[in-house]
Amino acid sequence: MCGIIGYVGDRPCYELIVRGLERLEYRGYDSAGFALLDADNDRYALVRAVGKLEDLRAATVGADGLEGPTTGIGHTRWATHGKVTLPNAHPHVSNDGRVAVVMNGIIENYVELRRRLQDEGVVFASETDTEVLPHLLARHYEGDIVAAVQAVLPQLSGHYAFVASHTSEPGRLVAVRHECPLVVGVGVNEMFLASAIPAFLGETREVIYPENDEIVVVDRDAVHIYDGFGTEVTRPTRTWEGSEEAAEKGGYDTFMLKEIHEQPAALWDTIGSRLGADGSISLDGIGIDDHVLARVDAVHIVACGTSYHAGLAGRYLIEDWARIPVSVEVASEYRYRTCLAGPGDLVIGITQSGETADTLAAMRVARERGAHVVALTNQTDSQAARDANGVLLTRAGLEIGVAATKTHTAQIMALAVLALKLGRMRWSLTEAGVRDLSEELRRLPDAIEQYLLSSAPADVAAVAAKYVDKGFFLYLGRHVGVPVCFEGALKLKEISYVPTEAYPAGEMKHGPIALLDEGSPVVVVAPDGHVFDKVISNIQEVRARGARVIAVATEGNEEIALHADDVLWAPRTPALLSPITTIVPLQLFAYEIAKGKGLNVDKPRNLAKTVTVE
Ligand code: F6R
Repeated sequence: MCGIIGYVGDRPCYELIVRGLERLEYRGYDSAGFALLDADNDRYALVRAVGKLEDLRAATVGADGLEGPTTGIGHTRWATHGKVTLPNAHPHVSNDGRVAVVMNGIIENYVELRRRLQDEGVVFASETDTEVLPHLLARHYEGDIVAAVQAVLPQLSGHYAFVASHTSEPGRLVAVRHECPLVVGVGVNEMFLASAIPAFLGETREVIYPENDEIVVVDRDAVHIYDGFGTEVTRPTRTWEGSEEAAEKGGYDTFMLKEIHEQPAALWDTIGSRLGADGSISLDGIGIDDHVLARVDAVHIVACGTSYHAGLAGRYLIEDWARIPVSVEVASEYRYRTCLAGPGDLVIGITQSGETADTLAAMRVARERGAHVVALTNQTDSQAARDANGVLLTRAGLEIGVAATKTHTAQIMALAVLALKLGRMRWSLTEAGVRDLSEELRRLPDAIEQYLLSSAPADVAAVAAKYVDKGFFLYLGRHVGVPVCFEGALKLKEISYVPTEAYPAGEMKHGPIALLDEGSPVVVVAPDGHVFDKVISNIQEVRARGARVIAVATEGNEEIALHADDVLWAPRTPALLSPITTIVPLQLFAYEIAKGKGLNVDKPRNLAKTVTVE
């Protein structure tokens, strides 16, 4: 999704702005631009380009006024309103050339605002919703950009974060967030504004998190924050503890591969402080009293994409261990249904970024109904964390590859801890049962580590090489294998652009079997467990139609090789936990197919890491 960076300070900022944009590339974008304010001649050096940041750098060749300015704003755009064109790229500038704005999000009433401004004689240069902002600010400007922002805010509806500058106030940027992320980076004689911390990592780790609708004013040596009434408020400066190295590839070819290999650490860090050796389980931070949790009537999980698949896997754990009915729904649907969650229910919003617009909206709907809402997120300071009663944190570290990997397995791990705790509280698990299962959870990081260090990844690569030219893959599984199929199929389609279909194997005869003919590749998730024999029957059925079967099976299973053309092994674990292990070879499989096609796995086309618009 769009990325924002802003700088005011003592240093010439061209490189700082472009480097900031490079650090935001992982969010996905289709065009980019910046405006640097040259105080000496009272105008912006505005450079924009369609395409990648290399294109933006190329567009700067021969541009004037890039060396001197020490105030600037930059943007990577992921098109929502208006096509991917140069005029639609940010920053946008008012007709008098005095106000420049970059924005992330959507101004929903922009059509009406645009019409009104046009009636007043404003000429629009783009099709974007953002462009209403510089024009509105210019019309309300009477010598104070903060006052202009104050006058404009009540006219806006939607969800957005923007940064604005005025040529009469060089050395000052003003920003507002409304349901979209925005952070301030505090340096020495310099300040940054950004949609995400990596944009200024390397320059400062001191961060301020403004609240919704506060007006943030940054000068080179001060940050002032005002609430909706214009009263100055104080927000603490916190030190960001994440590692800078995480933002680099650490020796791997791609972030995705690095993050696949970081799964053991992500899993361990997620459970480390939660599972005591004595069988104790801590849900520290969840913000709901034990006696309330122990009595919940139902659990509703809302999420999008890969996080939704983690929710599907978690359902089996909570239903089996805690005996509580669980529903799992994509947030974009949940938010518009008649919500029946109530004070007796636990609603879990799963979102690694904590900023996905639909998940936030679904959580809000549930809170309004009086449900207990928990954010299962990888970001403590995210909007989801702030909106919920409490947080169930995954400690997967920064994930930069657009295709989620380590955050996914960490999410299932966190759900397993929750299921254990609920099971113990409700007496559906015995103390000994909890101890055994905790032990299984604690074994998982090591098992996956051994797997990743073994020849298994190379074996996956060899299997993938045989299928790299296939134009379609069907994924089949049963029981806990179903969410693994959904996730495996999503990984393959999003980074290799190969169409995939994922189905519960029992449904195959009700339609998808028609897709198969000689040589069709079918990935079958077949871990050891009570449905293994049923899955073998499904394998026979697809092979009878000429399909080639790539099975994902438990290490040491001797039978599977009799039925499959190729086998991707996964570490042994109890069936209910197998979504954490069986997805790993499928992440590698998708990775190898995409690499085999020569694609950029970290930045697949059209996708954004954080989907902050509906
Ligand atoms: C796919 C992927 C997406 C995200 C989805 C939700 O690999 O990463 O499907 O899972 O956009 O994102 P979060 O978890 O940030 O809410």
